[in-house]
This record gives sequence, structure tokens and C-alpha cells, in this order.
Amino acid sequence: MGFLTGFYALFFYVAVLIFLVGVGHKIYEYARTPAPLKVPTMPAPLTTTGVAWRLTTEVVFFKSLFRANKWIWILGWVFHFCLLLVLLRHLRYFIDPVWLWVDLLQPFGKYAAFGMVAGLAGLLLRRIVVERIRYISNPSDYIMLILLLIIGMSGSMMTFVKHTDIVQLKAAFLGFLSLNWQYNLPADPILFVHLTAVFALMIVFPFSKLLHAPGIFFSPSRNQVDNAREKRHLAPWAAKLEN
Ligand code: HEM
Ligand code: HEM
Repeated sequence: MGFLTGFYALFFYVAVLIFLVGVGHKIYEYARTPAPLKVPTMPAPLTTTGVAWRLTTEVVFFKSLFRANKWIWILGWVFHFCLLLVLLRHLRYFIDPVWLWVDLLQPFGKYAAFGMVAGLAGLLLRRIVVERIRYISNPSDYIMLILLLIIGMSGSMMTFVKHTDIVQLKAAFLGFLSLNWQYNLPADPILFVHLTAVFALMIVFPFSKLLHAPGIFFSPSRNQVDNAREKRHLAPWAAKLEN
């Protein structure tokens, strides 16, 4: 294994570790944080099934964003949906043999790159052009969008402009995953830009606004049932005080 491959293998392990432990720890914290008050945004579902449906429509369609602002909704939804397709397409680099549905998804994942980049560019433009949004934007808001744009554009360069050696890349990554480091990564500068940005994103994920992804499931205004009259709401710590 060459020096550069060794460096990126190490970078990969560190990034995956920080991502998994960091996000896992945040989820643990979110799950343990008391929600002392009933605060679902009204009108709210009356049953648990209703809450599951509400969360599904939020996660799949960004329902409340749709109601709030159609422009941000279209840009945000297109970006996220395309990101999902792109990520699912990437599974082929990490599994062997490739599952049929991942195979079938390949053309969609490939062209989703355009939707991802266009959505991100629109969201970035909005932060720069709309004065009200510029006023409330901080460096991390820009950095996340720029990092994702670098990932999307370097990825698209490899897919549509200057191909990288996918067979060699896959051999190297399967090697990283099975701790068998005999294959080098292809010596392709665009791939190294792509990987550097991807690993940086994984490292900042547990400390950044990207935590909205697991966070939405723990949001009391979205995940509570509107049953305050039928059932007394008691946070666990308040219940302890009662006895
Ligand atoms: C459960 C999965 C996810 C859901 C439901 C979700 C939903 C949302 C919503 C509703 C917004 C707000 C748009 C706005 O009001 O400005 C947003 C923003 C954003 N999301 Fe996600 N997201 C998810 C996962 C992710 C992931 C995995 C990433 C990146 C790796 C990501 C990156 C972003 C970024 C960068 C923004 C900010 C856009 C801006 O600057 O305006 N999201 N997301
Ligand atoms: C270790 C993780 C990753 C590896 C090894 C990797 C590798 C690659 C490679 C080799 C390509 C070129 C595909 C081709 O020529 O057919 C590519 C494309 C791309 N990558 Fe990644 N990537 C990784 C993670 C990511 C992540 C996390 C994102 C998004 C946040 C991303 C976004 C893209 C996009 C948008 C494209 C272009 C469209 C496509 O071919 O799917 N990549 N990636």
C-alpha cells in the first residue's frame, strides 16, 4: 500500500469512527432529554399512528417547509431527494455482489448529481442574495453548503468529465472495510478532493446543524400526541418529584 492510500485509509477510519460514535452519542442524548411540557404544533395528531404519519410527511415531503415557503421547499427538497439517490447509488462501491435494487438505481443516482448541485447552488444563492437570510446566516451555514457543493461537483467531474478507475477504487474500499490493505486507491486528484470533502463532512456532522437529520425524530413539537386532556403528561423527572 502506498503512502497516499495509507493516509486516506486512516482518514477514512477516523472519519467513520467520529461520525458513528458522535451521531450515536447525540441520539442517546436526544433520547434522554426530558420533554417536560406538551408542545406539539397544532393542529396535532390525536394518536401515535397519527404522529408516525406526521413525521413521515415531514421527513419524506418536508410538509411544514412546503407550507412555509415554496421556493425554499423546492430547492431543499430537490437537494435532499437527489442526495438520497446519490448515496444509495454509492452503495455499489462498498458491497460485493451489488444488490439488484442498487443496480437498478444506478442511472437515477447518476443524474441526481445535477439535482443535488442545482438545489445546493440555489440554497447558497438564497443565503447571499436575500438580505433577511444573509443577516441570520453564520459561517457554518455557508461552509455546509460549500462543502456539499465541492462533494457534488468533484463527484460529477468523475462521473461525467474525467472518469476514475472504479474497479480499483472498489477493490481499495472493500480492502479498507475488511482490513486488507493490498490495493491502492487510483491516483486521481479529483477523487482525493472528493474523499477529503466527504471525510471532512463526516467529521463535522456530529457537531453541526446536519444533526437535524436524526434531530427531527426527537422534536417535541412534531413527535408529541395531542392528548393532554385524556392523559396527564409527566416528564420522568417530574414523576420522581411527585412520590
Ligand atoms: C432525515 C433526513 C433529513 C431531513 C428530514 C432534512 C430536512 C431538512 C429541512 C426541512 C431543511 C430546511 C430547509 C430550510 O428551511 O432552509 C434542511 C436543511 C438542510 N439540510 Fe437537511 N434533512 C435531512 C438530512 C440531511 C443530510 C443527511 C444532509 C447532508 C449530509 C442535509 C443537509 C442540509 C443542509 C446543508 C441544509 C441547509 C440548507 C440551507 O442552507 O438553507 N440534510 N434539511
Ligand atoms: C467514502 C465515500 C465515497 C466514495 C468512495 C465516493 C466515490 C465516488 C466516485 C468514485 C464517484 C464517481 C462515480 C462514477 O464515475 O461513476 C462519485 C461520484 C459522486 N459522489 Fe461520491 N463518494 C463517496 C461519498 C460521497 C458522499 C457522502 C456524497 C454526497 C454527500 C457523494 C456525492 C457524489 C456525487 C454527487 C457524485 C456524482 C454522481 C454519481 O456518480 O453518483 N459521494 N463518488
